[in-house]
Amino acid sequence: MNSSALVDKFGRQVNYLRISVTDRCDFRCVYCMAEEMTFVPREQVLSLEEIERIAGAFVALGVKKIRITGGEPLIRRHVLSLFRNLGRMLGLEELVMTSNGSQLAKMAAPLRQAGVKRINISLDSVDPDRFRELTRTGDLRRVIAGIDAARQQGFAGIKLNAVILKGRNDEEILPLVAFARDRGLDLTFIEEMPLGQVDEHARDACFMASQEVRKVIESRYSLSPCTHRSGGPARYYRFDDSPIRVGFISPHSHNFCSDCNRVRLTAEGRLLLCLGNEHSVDLRQVVRQTEDDAELRQAIVDAMDLKPERHYFDLQEAPQIVRFMNMTGG
Ligand code: GTP
Ligand code: 5AD
Ligand code: SF4
Repeated sequence: MNSSALVDKFGRQVNYLRISVTDRCDFRCVYCMAEEMTFVPREQVLSLEEIERIAGAFVALGVKKIRITGGEPLIRRHVLSLFRNLGRMLGLEELVMTSNGSQLAKMAAPLRQAGVKRINISLDSVDPDRFRELTRTGDLRRVIAGIDAARQQGFAGIKLNAVILKGRNDEEILPLVAFARDRGLDLTFIEEMPLGQVDEHARDACFMASQEVRKVIESRYSLSPCTHRSGGPARYYRFDDSPIRVGFISPHSHNFCSDCNRVRLTAEGRLLLCLGNEHSVDLRQVVRQTEDDAELRQAIVDAMDLKPERHYFDLQEAPQIVRFMNMTGG
C-alpha cells in the first residue's frame, strides 16, 4: 500500500479521493435519482479552481489516485481543463473517471490526452428500450458509440458497471456479459444501495445479491475467483475462455469497509468520510476562507478522525442517507 499522511482512527490509510464535479446529469437512473430532482445552485458548487486546489492538498498528503465522478462529470462546462491540470499534477499516479458514457464519443480522445488512465462506464442494459426505462432519458446507441470511442483510445482499462435490480434488469445479466466479452472489457455488477428516496421501485423487493448474479453467469460460463484488485471494493472472477474479468461490488453481502482507502468530495465541497454515513467536513468553507494551503491540509488531516468504521445499509427501513448518489458519484 502507498504511504499517506492520511490515517484514520482504525489505522486505514487514505490514498484514494473521489471527486464529484457536478450533481447534475443528463440521465435519471431509477436507482440513483427521483424523477424530479432539485440540483445544487451553481454558486454553492465548487469552482474548477477550488476543486484543483483541494485535489492538490490531498496529493501533497499522499493521495495517489483521484477518480472524477458526478452526476455526469462530462457535462460540467470546461471540465477538460480540470482533467488537464490534474493529469499534470506531480505525485498523482492515477487519474481515473466514472461516467455514463453519453459524452464519450467526443470526449474520449481529449480525456486520454489529458492523462486519464482508466474509465468506468455505467451500463445496465444492452436493450435500447430497457436502457431508456432504467435511465429515463438515456440513448443506448450514444453510450455504445462512447464506449467504442474509448476503446479506440488505448486507455489502460475500461470497466463497465451494472446495477442489477430484480425484475427490472436481471434478464440483462447474460447479455451484458456477452457484450463485455465481445468488446474485451471488464464488467462489475453492483448491489443497489439505499441512498436517497427513489420513487419507482421498492429497494428491498428489487434487491439482487452478488451471489445470485454470479449464479446466473455460472449457468452459462465457468468462473474462477482471481486475485486482481482495481483499487476499489470489487471482487473479481475470470472466465476459462476470455481474458476479461467480472467483478462484484457487494456493499450488502460482503463488507469491505475494513480495507477502505477512500474519501469523497461532493460537488458542494463537503468531504464525506464514508459513502454510507453522513460524517463530513465542509472544505468549501475552508477554501473560501483562507488562501493558506497549510490550513487546508490541516483541515483534511483532522477530518480523518471522523471516518466511521463501516456502513450499515437496511433495505427495509426508510433510507438513513437522504443524499442521492449523484451528490457523491458512488
Ligand atoms: P476502481 O476499482 O478504481 O475501478 O473503481 P470502483 O469500482 O471503486 O469505482 P466505480 O466508480 O466504478 O464504483 C463503482 C461502485 O462501487 C460505486 O458506484 C459504488 O456503488 C461502489 N463503491 C465504491 N466505493 C465504495 C465504498 O467505499 N463504499 C460502498 N458502500 N460502495 C462503494
Ligand atoms: N446503488 C448502487 N450503485 C449506484 N450507482 C448509482 N446509484 C447507485 C445506488 N443507489 C452507481 C452507478 C454508477 C456508479 C457511479 O454508481 O451505476 O456505475
Ligand atoms: Fe446519472 Fe450516473 Fe446517476 Fe445514472 S447513476 S442518473 S448516469 S449520475
